[in-house]
Amino acid sequence: MERVAVLTRDCAGVNAAIRSVVRTACSKDVEVLGVLKGYDGLIDCRFAPLGVRSVSGIINQGGTILKTARSNRFFDEKYQEQAVKNIHENSIDGLICIGGNGTLSGAHVLATKYKMPVVGIPATIDNDITGVDLCLGADTAVNVALDALDKIRDTATSLERIFVVEVMGRSCGYLALQLALAGGCEEVLIPELDVDVNRMCNEIQEGNSRGKVSWIVIVAEGKAKAHDIASVIGEKTGLETRVAVLGHMQRGGRPTATDRLMAARLGNYAVEVLMNGLTDHCVAVKDSELTVVPLGVAVQPKEIDIKGYYRLIKLLT
Ligand code: F6P
Repeated sequence: MERVAVLTRDCAGVNAAIRSVVRTACSKDVEVLGVLKGYDGLIDCRFAPLGVRSVSGIINQGGTILKTARSNRFFDEKYQEQAVKNIHENSIDGLICIGGNGTLSGAHVLATKYKMPVVGIPATIDNDITGVDLCLGADTAVNVALDALDKIRDTATSLERIFVVEVMGRSCGYLALQLALAGGCEEVLIPELDVDVNRMCNEIQEGNSRGKVSWIVIVAEGKAKAHDIASVIGEKTGLETRVAVLGHMQRGGRPTATDRLMAARLGNYAVEVLMNGLTDHCVAVKDSELTVVPLGVAVQPKEIDIKGYYRLIKLLT
């Protein structure tokens, strides 16, 4: 293998992973091309050479230095073929795709339909990749959101208000569950779990009559809009309710030590397994050990111990 390309989505830890990929490849005299703007860059032939020095000073930066995009074109076979043609014309022998479900699904297509040597690195704040304990970016996202949540709690407690806080995570409640437990929140509403909102409002009212004056309810974006939940709570309980939508701040920020360490290990391992002939897999940390997971498995819906988390959240409030 003489030349590999690296393609990314954005979240904390991705730059640290690019750095690890580039420096590992360079140490083996393998050239690296960065694909600019994700799958759109593959289609439009936007490559930039990456050397040891071009990845200096990025280990602590959020986002991705390669820029990225949600490529609707890549779903279309015509553009997939264009991308593969560009890969071959640029003598790219292997591809490392860093990102979440969409990125890894694209990698799976390249590996299976076009027989391209491809290895993925799971990186998404949603942490919804099957067979992978923790995706790059998820630890930073929980910490960034937790910092915001602690600040919201300060004002919620001072003013004796109910807060409904909307968090990201698409159709996966992982981020919401983690935040609710780590932030000591009273309730969490996620797509995977049916929580009776009337029961929740009754609990809030009963709590209020016992002297419990502030509540934080976490809502995963895939479940409901925080404003709608807040209106119901306000109407049913008569209590003052406010909303905070954390939004894209959760995907940014300096990567935590956990994300940087994982990025270093996964980037290095991805180059090694790719050079050893592995394709159609992603690298991952499972039970603290480096491992590989078939991409066809990785992109299936992930099962998390929702009931266990929920039981603990309710027990500890
Ligand atoms: O997959 C990561 C994620 O941040 C989800 O949590 C969220 O639903 C989605 O991306 C938002 O996508 P976009 O940045 O394209 O609006």
